[in-house]
Amino acid sequence: MSSDILNNLNPGIEDLHPYEPGRSIDEVVAEFGHHQVVKLASNENPLGASPKALSILARLENDLHLYPDGNGTKLKEEIANHENVAFDNIIIGNGSNEILELAARAFLNPKTSSVASKHAFAVYKIVTQSAGASLIEVPTCNWAHDLKSFENYLESSTRVIFIANPNNPTGTYNSHEEVHSLLKKVPSSVLVVLDCAYFEYVTKEDYVKPLDLLNEFDNLLITKTFSKIHGLASIRVGYGIANPSLIEVLNRIRQPFNVNTIAQAMACVAINDHEHIRQSIELNSEQYEFLFDKLSKLGLECIPSVANFITFKGNFIGQEMFNNLMEKGVIVRSVDLYDMKDFIRVTIGTETENLKFLSALEELL
Ligand SMILES: Cc1ncc(COP(=O)(O)O)c(C=O)c1O
Repeated sequence: MSSDILNNLNPGIEDLHPYEPGRSIDEVVAEFGHHQVVKLASNENPLGASPKALSILARLENDLHLYPDGNGTKLKEEIANHENVAFDNIIIGNGSNEILELAARAFLNPKTSSVASKHAFAVYKIVTQSAGASLIEVPTCNWAHDLKSFENYLESSTRVIFIANPNNPTGTYNSHEEVHSLLKKVPSSVLVVLDCAYFEYVTKEDYVKPLDLLNEFDNLLITKTFSKIHGLASIRVGYGIANPSLIEVLNRIRQPFNVNTIAQAMACVAINDHEHIRQSIELNSEQYEFLFDKLSKLGLECIPSVANFITFKGNFIGQEMFNNLMEKGVIVRSVDLYDMKDFIRVTIGTETENLKFLSALEELL
C-alpha cells in the first residue's frame, strides 16, 4: 500500500496501537485444541448474564427489522429511576467506552491535553490521541491514582481528566474525600470523567458517592456499564450521568442509533435484576478472599483490589506466564500494555474456574 495515504493520518494516531482485547475461548480452543477453556481475561461476570434479561430475548424477534429507539427512552427512564436522577441527566452508549470517546471528541483537539494516572485504563489514551490531543500521565502512589498530585500536572491546555475508580488493571480505588478535593481544585472549565465501570463491586465505606458530587460539580461526567455486574459485556451498553447541558452536548455528536434494540431491552431488565446483582457481588467478595489468600500463599505479590479481578506479580515475565497458562486452557491477561511487564491480571471467576486457574499456575511456578 502506498504510504502517501498514511502520511495524512491525523496527529496522535501514528503511535497508537489497536486496543488488545482478551483472547476469546474459540480462538484458544482452535489454537490449542483444549475442550474446556476457562476465560478469566476480561473482567466479565462468571455467573453470566442476568437471567431476567436473557428471558426476554425471544420477545424481541418481531422488532428486529426496525431501527432501535434512537432516544433510548425506556432505558434512560430505567437508569434515571435506578440512579435517582432526572431523565435529562442520562446518555446511553455502545458500552461505556463510547461515552469516554464522546467526551474526548467533544472537548479535545490537537491543541489540548487530558490528564490520567499512569497504569490507568488504556482507552483514555486511545480516545485522547484519536482526538489529536496528548495525554499527561500522573505517577501512581502504591499503584493507586495519586489524586492529590493531579493538580500539579494540569496544564493550561488541559480540558479533560480521566479517573478510573476502581481502576483497571490495578483494582485500586479512590475515596470520596480524595475525588471531592480534586474536583474542588480543578477549574470548572475542565471536564472530570469519573469512570465507575466496577462501581457495584466496591464494598468500602469511604468509596466515592458519585451522585453527591454531581449535585456540586457541573463539570463532572460519571460513566457506568452493563458489561460487568450485569453480565452483558457482549451486547455493549454503558451510560453517562452529568448535568443536562453536558449531556446535550454529548448527544449532538452521538451516532443516532448507537445502542441496538436487543441491548436496550436487555439492559432495561438487567438493571432491575436485584437478585443477580446480589449474587454476583457475593460470589465476587467470597472468591476474592479465596484467590487473594491462595495467590499470596504461593508467594505472589497481589495488588489489593476492590473490583472483580486481581493483578499480581511473581518471578516471571507476564507475557510468558500468559502464554503458558493459555497452553493449559486458562486465559488471563498480561498487562504489558500498562507498563507492568512482570504482572498478570486474573478475573475472579467461579470457584471451579479459580481452582483450575490456581492448579495451572502452581504447575508453572
Ligand atoms: C475501567 C474501565 N472503564 C470502562 C470499561 C469499558 O467497558 P464497556 O465499554 O464494556 O462498558 C472497562 C472495561 O473493561 C474498564 O475496565
